[in-house]
Amino acid sequence: MAEPPAQTPKQVTVIGHPLVQHKLTLMRHKDSSTGKFRQLAREISLLMAYELTRDLPLETREIETPMETMQAPILAGKKLCIVSILRAGDGIAEGMLDLVPSARVGHIGLYRDPKTLEPVEYYLKLPEDVGERLVIVVDPMLATGHSAAAALTRLKQAGATQLRFACLLAAPEGMKVLTETHPDVPVFTCSIDRELDSHAYIRPGLGDAGDRLYGTK
Ligand code: URA
Repeated sequence: MAEPPAQTPKQVTVIGHPLVQHKLTLMRHKDSSTGKFRQLAREISLLMAYELTRDLPLETREIETPMETMQAPILAGKKLCIVSILRAGDGIAEGMLDLVPSARVGHIGLYRDPKTLEPVEYYLKLPEDVGERLVIVVDPMLATGHSAAAALTRLKQAGATQLRFACLLAAPEGMKVLTETHPDVPVFTCSIDRELDSHAYIRPGLGDAGDRLYGTK
């Protein structure tokens, strides 16, 4: 795995698990088919969810095994909420749901205003009690960081207090924007790539994640 830059903020975790790194390499490969890419996105997202939920609080509950009564650990509090940044975030949310099937799911849609270049919200649907849940915001590519930062700002306005952000790949530029705008939000990525190019694509990257997930190009 490429080492994360030395100045990587403490709030950022680069997931170095060998299976994650291996699957990411397969996803990057230009000849991976749509079906293969989608399947890999699902698998890698499940593994990311495992890392993201490492520190969830537990409580004990009395249960009956076939042999006897015991005090058994169980997740405390409300089910977590995964918020997908449309549309490519759905490819990550699906895999996370394989691991936490009872999670609630929210969606946020943003487009970039061609004049101001600022992200504009066109869709938002969240569980009403989002403020009482751990919210994992997902988007495969953290490129400029503007959509991710805007999504987190909007979620805070909606009452979310416990937020995490997860992506497959990050550009250093986007990481800087996101961590400076939201220094309180832990960020998880599988790689911090070299740079953004002049079209705001991540290099070396994996191309357009939405198109590769859905076969639209
Ligand atoms: N979005 C993508 O899908 N790919 C990039 O490289 C950057 C943004």
